[in-house]
Amino acid sequence: MSFVLDVTAMLDPVVPNGVREADWPLLAGRFREAHGAVAAIAATGVYGYRELEAQAGERTRVAQFAQSVAGQYDDVVVLGIGGSSLGAIALRTALLPPAWNARTSAQRAGRPRLHVLDNVDPRSIAGVLSIIALPRTLFVVISKSGGTIETLAQYLVVRERLEAAGLDVSRHLAFVTDPAKGALRAIAARDSIPAFAVPPNVGGRFSVLSPVGTLPAALCGIDIEALCAGASAMRDATLGDALEQNAAGLFATLQWRAHVQAGQGMHVLMPYSDALRDLAPWFVQLWAESLGKVDADGLNVGPTPIASVGATDQHSQVQLFMEGPADKTVTFLRVERGQDELTIPNLEPGEKALSFLGGHALGELLDVECRATAGALARAGRASMTMSVGAADAWHLGGLMMWLMQATTFAGALYRVNPLDQPGVELGKRLANRELGHPDLTSHDQAGLATPSLSPPRTVRVP
Ligand code: PA5
Repeated sequence: MSFVLDVTAMLDPVVPNGVREADWPLLAGRFREAHGAVAAIAATGVYGYRELEAQAGERTRVAQFAQSVAGQYDDVVVLGIGGSSLGAIALRTALLPPAWNARTSAQRAGRPRLHVLDNVDPRSIAGVLSIIALPRTLFVVISKSGGTIETLAQYLVVRERLEAAGLDVSRHLAFVTDPAKGALRAIAARDSIPAFAVPPNVGGRFSVLSPVGTLPAALCGIDIEALCAGASAMRDATLGDALEQNAAGLFATLQWRAHVQAGQGMHVLMPYSDALRDLAPWFVQLWAESLGKVDADGLNVGPTPIASVGATDQHSQVQLFMEGPADKTVTFLRVERGQDELTIPNLEPGEKALSFLGGHALGELLDVECRATAGALARAGRASMTMSVGAADAWHLGGLMMWLMQATTFAGALYRVNPLDQPGVELGKRLANRELGHPDLTSHDQAGLATPSLSPPRTVRVP
């Protein structure tokens, strides 16, 4: 396994309010406690995301389906939102060659392009519909609950197009949803639409290794067995209760400690890799929706995750990280062995600004910039960690995703919240449903969309 988590720049004296030598026993004890709480909850079977062996059967169905339809589609369009879309986006960016959707079919070896529609903005949906040929397209509708209005609205739009074109919907739709419940499951049974199960004990943002992520991935030729093998290896390596040997426990504990003891509640994830850049928004959802909660004492808690990418955001956010409020930690992700390498040519030996670049490789430049930014932050007394991975391949990506999901589970216990639920988004969903005329409404929702306020509305119109 090739993952190295370097936490030196979270420690005193590198950072002024970093972890001191004397703090380790306390932190190790706090992690052991959190680990015990997680183990007790795990015994009830709720952490299905890490039971990858139990999902092997459905994974085989996914692989067989992908193989059986190979060559039939030029485009796969995922319809889903939140945990039902961000994983597929991260997998596409990391594991399909750059500009996959711009390549010709021959360059893609006949594999489909992959589009992910994760919003109901008609502009994006119309945009994708305008560049695909319906007879050569498979729409993968992903909703664990089968009741998410954004996804169901997209499905209705797409289904009408398929029917209007006289196409057999059972050959152009596939569903990923609960094994037994929900509208999509019922429609799949009625119309013989291929349907794949999200296990009931796998929550949306923890579901990337279930058919939610593996079906779109397998359809485009990604090695889902390698993805899950890397994840299993990371899971096995992050089961123990010894803080300094558990990379997920260490990440969670140091982030939690930075927040509650050092006022660093903004947690930046900054891959120095275009392959891993969409891992950052995936992490943002995982960390935010899992940990931003009311805790066991009724307090509003939770860190604020921030997505960044190096070296691009050195010219954007890094100024803030260096000299803005010292309320952040930055976690760098670096890839030791990039897949593509380009040497910078020595074209301008007489120009000081360019001559020294000649002969270096672009990947080397990226890595030097990563280490330079980490070094600069440390010199400014700003907290950071660096996770180095051997390669940005399926095995390592599975490992990274499992690392962050395990860390989120431990962080839930440290913050004393349930990382698996999301009660804070329910009211907004119900109010939208009410406005649109959903038949099942509770009296609680009758107040409608008006902002509760005693004062009259205050708005400014700019002509
Ligand atoms: O993480 C979560 O649970 C959410 O972000 C869900 O994934 C999102 O709301 C979509 O839900 P569903 O898959 O039921 O359509």
